[in-house]
Formats: sequence, structure tokens, C-alpha cells
Amino acid sequence: MNSAFITNLAYIISSVLFAFGLKFLGSPVSARRGNILSASGMFLAIVATLANGQIISFQWILIGIIIGASLGALVAFKAAMTQMPQMIALLHGCGALASVFVDWTAYHVNGAGDLTNTITLYLSIVIGGLTVTGSAIAWGKLSEKIPGKPILFAGQRLLNIALIASILILGILFLMHPARYDVFLIILGLSVLFGIFLVIPIGGADMPVVISVLNSYSGIVACTTGFVIHNTLLIVVGSLVGANGIILSIIMCKAMNRSITNVIFGAFGAVVKKKTDGQKKEAKAISVEDAFLILENAKSVVIIPGYGLAVAQAQHAVRELSEFLEKNGCDVKYAIHPVAGRMPGHMNVVLAEANIPYDQLMEMDAINPLMENVDVAIVIGANDVVNPAARHDKSSPIYGMPIINADKAKTVFVLKRSMATGFAGIENELFYDDNCRMIFGDAKQTVQALVAEFKNSQH
Ligand code: TAP
Repeated sequence: MNSAFITNLAYIISSVLFAFGLKFLGSPVSARRGNILSASGMFLAIVATLANGQIISFQWILIGIIIGASLGALVAFKAAMTQMPQMIALLHGCGALASVFVDWTAYHVNGAGDLTNTITLYLSIVIGGLTVTGSAIAWGKLSEKIPGKPILFAGQRLLNIALIASILILGILFLMHPARYDVFLIILGLSVLFGIFLVIPIGGADMPVVISVLNSYSGIVACTTGFVIHNTLLIVVGSLVGANGIILSIIMCKAMNRSITNVIFGAFGAVVKKKTDGQKKEAKAISVEDAFLILENAKSVVIIPGYGLAVAQAQHAVRELSEFLEKNGCDVKYAIHPVAGRMPGHMNVVLAEANIPYDQLMEMDAINPLMENVDVAIVIGANDVVNPAARHDKSSPIYGMPIINADKAKTVFVLKRSMATGFAGIENELFYDDNCRMIFGDAKQTVQALVAEFKNSQH
């Protein structure tokens, strides 16, 4: 057995571990196993690469690992759960940057190679270049380092078309003259520039979808880089990441009622915010004490978490509340909307932090048919994902977005601090429904107050 055979065998095992890792990540029950499998696959891949006898400098690799691992650990420990989307953007950008450096080095050392190689090298630096800056802008917008609102200027569309045209024309030139280092560098420079102009017109609030698309791009770049340096593992892993990113983007777009082409071509622009229709209705508030009396008699409760629950970090208090409800003979379920919060799986992660049993979590499609028989729906820090306007108001920006039918429950409690709008910036007609009562205040404090009522009732 020669060393190339052993390396390839290790790569195949790594690929299988990655594929199963991803499969297991699809459910909260097996997600931990999925993470371990994927991490083991990565470890095996690194060991196999380091051991295959082609390493020129172990010292530089060690320095890179120390700097990268320290920075990664520092950022991961510092980042709050609500800062995850921007951290993911940054990590995709780093991945794409690494791929671009590998492509550049390969070109510098070995030249572009045959036509197929030149095409993959070209695709790699274009997608890689725009992913690096696109991700950096997405990070800047989400972390409010640059203005989150769409940055628009006269001639923007024309400039983008000119950039795309130049990248395409120079691409043809590069394929005809692969030794032209200057053309290579100009294509890379223009792609880096294009990444900026692609993402700046998109509003900060839409960034999570953009990040998912960029995630897919970073996978595609890893894949094309794999072709450039003839590395099977990069090709397989890059394809997995690329395909996953696209699937996730489509799921997010569907759940937000956006079109994927809109996202890919960065044509969101500013979302038109809908004002109230002038009809002045009163939302009815209820005290914690009165809400407790209703909950004490409830036989079924559905908790609908949203972004505000994550902001308030109310998950532990919520688990306590559901335990009291269950002790009281009440059936408790959690209704999870696919885009509740600000990142895919946001609610699953937050609820898992508080060890809320997975079997109580129900997806939107599973819970909706049951809502009519539910005694109390408790909406905690959610807004858009329970707005009935999405079902019937054609002029609403969220029209067509599937929602959790909280309004169908016999009684609805909405826990939020004020009548402020959510992400979409629109009024929620649920709050004015006859069966709805608002419990104003920070979600964590309100839930803790409800828990205190249950505790007092036991003495
Ligand atoms: P939102 O519609 O954003 O509403 C969140 C609500 O939480 C706000 O109305 C806010 O009202 C309340 N809130 C904030 N802090 C709170 C606190 N400390 N205590 C209690 N309430 C608090 O949230 P949602 O229903 O989860 O919907 C998510 C939205 O984000 C959707 O429109 C979705 O399309 C969008 N989006 C989601 C994703 C993903 S992947 N999840 C990605 C991009 C965009 P007050 O200020 O009055 O408290």
C-alpha cells in the first residue's frame, strides 16, 4: 500500500463521516452525534493530509493552527447566541479567503494547467473573491459596524452590469492566455469589488438569507479549489457545503415567502414597510395574576417562541413554567416556525440550551391543524411568525409567508415589551383579536412572574 492510497482511503472515510454528520445534524436529537462525526472526519482529513509526505513546512502550518485556533476560540467564547449569524458570515468569509489563497498559490507555483484546470481556477477566484468581501459586508451590517439599511446610489445597476461583463470578458481572455498573471490579478480584484457591490444594496435584516447563500458559495469555492489542486476531499466536502447552503437558502426563502432569484441577484432593495390601515382598535392587556388563573385551568398550552425570547434569554424560565403546567395536568407543546428568530434553527438551539425535551417541539405544519383545540397559545417574543395578515392581506410584505396559527387557539397570550413591530416592521392584527391578551414586559421577567404565581399557589 503506497501513501497516496492510504491518504485517499482516509479521505473517503472522512467524506462518509461528513455525509453522515450532516444527516445527523438534521434533527436536534442526533445533532450532537452529527457534530462529533463531522469533527472526527475533519480530524482524520487533517492527519491524513499532514502525513502524506507532501508538506513543505510544518512550522508554518503550526503557526497557522495556533493563530487560527486561538482567534477562533476567542471569538466563539465571546459571541453571544444572538451574534451567531454575523459570526457565521465571518467564518464563511475566512473559508473563502483560504480557498482563494490556495488557488493563488497553485497558480503562482504551477501555472493554470490545462483548459479544465484554467476554467476551475477562474471560477474559484471569481466566486471566492466575491464571497470574501460579500461575507465581510454581511458581517459588518449584522454587527452594525456599517449601516444596516440598503446602500443605494445612482448608476448602481449599471456599475454591477459593467463589473459582471468585465469579469466575463477577462475570463475569456484568461482562458485564451492562462499565463497572463496580470489578467488573473485583475479578475480577482474585480471579483472582490463585485462582492461589495453585490451585498451593500441588501438591507441588514435580510442578511441571514444572504449569509446562507454565501455559505453555499464558500462550499462551491472549496469544491473548485479541490479541482485546482486535485484534492478529492475538498471536492466532496465543498459540494456537500454548496448543496446544503442552497437547500437551506431555499427553505429560508420559502418560509419568508421570498424568491431565491431575488436573493442570489441581490435585488431585495428596501422592504416596503406597511403602515396601519388607520383603523384604531384597542389591544387588551392582562395582568400576570389573571393570566395565571387562566393557565391554571388550561388542559393544553402551546408555547410559540420568537426572536424576543432569545433576546430576553427566557428559555430557562420557560422550561420552569412548562414543568409547572405539566405538573398541573396540562399538555405542553412548543410550536417552532422555521424562520422564528434570526437564523435557521435559532429557536431549537435556544430551547435546547434549557434542556427542553425535543419531543415537545413541533414543527409548524404539525401543530397548525391542532391549534383550534388548544386552550392557550403563549406567544413569547414572536411577532411576524404569528401575524394572520400573512394569510389574507395581499398588500402585506409578509403575505404568503406560512405562519403558526396562534389566533386559532381559544385564548392567546402575547408576551412582549410594547406594541412595537417585529422584523418586517408591520402591525400584527393578532394583538387586536378578541381572544388575545397582551402581557407587557420583558419576556423573562413575565415568565418568571408566572412561575412565581404557580409556586405561591402550591403553598
Ligand atoms: P419578530 O417578528 O422579529 O418579533 C420579535 C418581537 O420580540 C418584537 O416584536 C419585540 O417586541 C419582541 N421582543 C424583543 N425583545 C424582547 C424582550 N426582551 N422581551 C419580550 N419581547 C421582546 O420575531 P419572530 O416572530 O421570531 O419573526 C422572525 C422574523 O425574522 C421573521 O419576519 C423572519 O422572516 C425574519 N428573519 C428570520 C430569519 C431566520 S433564519 N430565523 C432570518 C432573517 C429574517 P417588543 O419590542 O415590543 O418587545
